[in-house]
Amino acid sequence: MNKKDYLSGLMGCKIICCMLILLLCAACRVKQTEANYQQDKRGLKDFYKNYFSIGVAVAQRNLIGDEANLIKRHFNSITAENAMKMEALQPKEGVFNWRAADSIVSFALSNQIKIRGHNLCWHEQVPNWFFVGPSGAQASKELLLQRLRTHIHTVVERYKGKIYAWDVVNEVIDDDPAKYFRNSKWYQIAGEDFIIKAFEYAHEADPEAKLYYNDYNTERPEKRDRIYKLLKKLKEKNVPIDGVGLQAHWSIFEPSQVDLEAAIEKYSSLGLKIQFTELDMSIYAWEKNKREKKPNESDVYTPTIEAQQSAQYKMVFDTFRKYREVITNVTFWNVSDRYTWLDEYPVRGRKNHPLLFDAALQPKQAYWQIINFNRK
Ligand code: GLA
Repeated sequence: MNKKDYLSGLMGCKIICCMLILLLCAACRVKQTEANYQQDKRGLKDFYKNYFSIGVAVAQRNLIGDEANLIKRHFNSITAENAMKMEALQPKEGVFNWRAADSIVSFALSNQIKIRGHNLCWHEQVPNWFFVGPSGAQASKELLLQRLRTHIHTVVERYKGKIYAWDVVNEVIDDDPAKYFRNSKWYQIAGEDFIIKAFEYAHEADPEAKLYYNDYNTERPEKRDRIYKLLKKLKEKNVPIDGVGLQAHWSIFEPSQVDLEAAIEKYSSLGLKIQFTELDMSIYAWEKNKREKKPNESDVYTPTIEAQQSAQYKMVFDTFRKYREVITNVTFWNVSDRYTWLDEYPVRGRKNHPLLFDAALQPKQAYWQIINFNRK
């Protein structure tokens, strides 16, 4: 081949390459719609890659079949719904049960999914042996803190370098606005010291892990202010805390945008990062006390309710994007409306539809609302 032929061949190759790149870019800009959803493989994590990671809470049973495929497509962060709680991991003193937690961790690692640990200290799903002393009477403060330290060290060290963030303490603020701390067994025995200690133990065990305080109704002004008071004190005492987890068990009725923004601004003014750790959007007003479903109570998911829910999802994600500098993750609590903890809680037998995917794992209206925005 002479030099001229060689050069024109080279030029031809360059032109073809440029055209291919242009075509590829055009394909990337194609909007994802209901019509191309099956072929267009992008998911939530791709649309939000310049904002924050998008997570999901799972059980072992979600990690196979169609749910596993949905998780891999849409999420780049995972939380164990129950498998890492105190009761699940250490049902008896010194007896650790790692099976479910390990399988979630290995699923995440083999699919390049980040892991949020949940949780190291809570008043629920904690076995009673923690609070009982050798004589059968209540454990001393010293013994309780020693058990807390052993638990936290064992768990955090096992997943060191794999779990990048932990919910260290969950829900210590009381539901009653007139009270401050929840009167849990932790509090009765150790006072507020157990909160500080839990963060210190977690930091000792893995100095790299990001440590969070996690709670619900964090946007209601009266609860927000009590949580802020606690976080401020922790920061002033130099407790190793990196952020606050706002659970975001919300509904089509709350929070308002004003309350959501005020909460984000108030917590982040302390220099803390914010993660929305347990997002779902109930179609019913918030209730806490368990009860039976009333005979006249409808659980039909009407088009009007779906539209209200989509609007609420749109509002909260518009707000999340606005505060992307301080928000580092948004995690959904459960995969789809096929199963949600809200089907049973707090009203037994009442179906709820709080997530982005329906029982057939297809995207709902709310999904389209939150992925269609002008991406940066
Ligand atoms: C709280 C806990 C979660 C979970 C939900 C209900 O928000 O932090 O671990 O138990 O309640 O599913």
